[in-house]
Amino acid sequence: MEIGLFEAIYSARSLRRFKPDPVPDEVITKVLDAAIRAPSGSNQQSWEFVIVKDAAQRKKIGAVYQKGGAILKALYTDRVKPEHMSEDTYKKLMASAYYLIDHMADAPVLLLACLKQVPMAGAPPKLPPEVAAAMKSQARISGSSIYPAVQNIILACRGLGLGTVLTTIHTFFEDEVKEILGLPPRRGPAAEAQAQYLETPASAERRARLREQQRLAQVSRPRPEARPDKRDRRRLMRLQRDQT
Ligand SMILES: Cc1cc2nc3c(=O)[nH]c(=O)nc-3n(C[C@H](O)[C@H](O)[C@H](O)COP(=O)(O)O)c2cc1C
Repeated sequence: MEIGLFEAIYSARSLRRFKPDPVPDEVITKVLDAAIRAPSGSNQQSWEFVIVKDAAQRKKIGAVYQKGGAILKALYTDRVKPEHMSEDTYKKLMASAYYLIDHMADAPVLLLACLKQVPMAGAPPKLPPEVAAAMKSQARISGSSIYPAVQNIILACRGLGLGTVLTTIHTFFEDEVKEILGLPPRRGPAAEAQAQYLETPASAERRARLREQQRLAQVSRPRPEARPDKRDRRRLMRLQRDQT
């Protein structure tokens, strides 16, 4: 049964505890077909999606991910809880993210969305200074041509009953990941999404948020015009009669 777009958006939570069920190739193909519908700068479509199902390779990537996790833990030593999260939500998120560090290889499918760093066809080899100056924000937006595809992957998976979590910390050791996968140097694994069948169709928190949204929608919906009751209607008719 397919779910609607908005239900998919609201219920696509990050899931980090994996079921071992294999994901059929036709399902992966459908997910990738959704990925390539995404927009990309100048329609370059400089992406490549690497699907890792082989247990030995997953194990190797899992080991790299653990190394990335150690760095994340060091970065997070004194991390202050973001204001919008409750203490409980924050603790659960951290416990879940730390669990993933040691269990990445359990996911039956790792999907690496890679951005090929190819120069724009026909671009001048040396940019005029004013063009180079205008390009200074390029590093910050460099992921913007791959993440729309990643979001399509997340939503397509959700629509097909697969859970995902987007992670990036394996890129701390990008060269090792490339070596395991035999990727050429100019192709960076920008993000990784793990696909696995969901234990439950959607998690409670996202559902709660959805309910909240519905409540908000009700609050902001304009109240229907008050319908005059019988007595008002009779008074109105009398008034109209008197005026004619
Ligand atoms: C760029 C990016 C990097 C992320 N990196 C990690 C990560 O390293 N480990 C992890 O467990 N989750 C990671 N996440 C998932 C976020 O923790 C998650 O999206 C966020 O907590 C919101 O939770 P939700 O997706 O369930 O709504 C990442 C998400 C994004 C967008």
